[in-house]
Amino acid sequence: MTSDPEHIQADNVKRFDDAAADWEEKPQRVALARRVAEAIQQAIPLSGTMRVLEYGCGTGMVSRTLSPHVAYITAVDTSPQMLEVLGQKAREEKIANIEPLVHDLTSKPLPVNNFDLVMSSMTLHHIPDFKELLLQFFAALKPGGYLAVADLITEDGSFHEDNSGVAHYGINPEGIRSILTENGGLDITVQEIHTIEKQQEGDTTRRSYPIFLAWCRKA
Ligand SMILES: C[S@@+](CC[C@H](N)C(=O)[O-])C[C@H]1O[C@@H](n2cnc3c(N)ncnc32)[C@H](O)[C@@H]1O
Repeated sequence: MTSDPEHIQADNVKRFDDAAADWEEKPQRVALARRVAEAIQQAIPLSGTMRVLEYGCGTGMVSRTLSPHVAYITAVDTSPQMLEVLGQKAREEKIANIEPLVHDLTSKPLPVNNFDLVMSSMTLHHIPDFKELLLQFFAALKPGGYLAVADLITEDGSFHEDNSGVAHYGINPEGIRSILTENGGLDITVQEIHTIEKQQEGDTTRRSYPIFLAWCRKA
């Protein structure tokens, strides 16, 4: 794991561009994205008028699942290849309300007060300053809008086979709760929603990696 933000960003674009074509071949990944989408649907009253931002959308598994329940999704990622796959899958699945956008919110803001829901899954641990990113999420939300972030709970560095582009070995969900509180988030809830079981090559034990979802409303 390097701590230089520019290296991390470049490593991430390469890592996810290379992984894009086969991203949905791993059943565990698909199951996790479905679970995150289901948990968001249970936590947040989605409606057909909502404008949504998904940040770090990858191939858009969460957005594609939730797209029938909202008006429009801007699906943002820094990997052009991930977004290429998202575009292909959306066409195959006849989904017309997702707009893929290559953008890095950590270096350039999006229009403020623009979205009813900002969601992000398994991306924060790739972002060196995720506190600043959460501030950007709040800025992009309309007053009263919803924020939902899911990620890996703090681990020992064994989750990824290759830690290039990994800025944090998971995230402490109580740290997220504090950041949401500091930013005036309302009705903050943090829940463990899923567990990934993995046995890495050369490892004798199968390990469990819990996943949290934190959500709140902007005041
Ligand atoms: C582990 S993947 C998760 C993808 C998707 N959310 C899912 O659950 O399948 C992390 C995603 O974050 C994206 N990413 C990494 N750094 C980013 C940044 N600074 N801005 C936007 N997206 C980023 C990667 O390109 C990748 O698609």
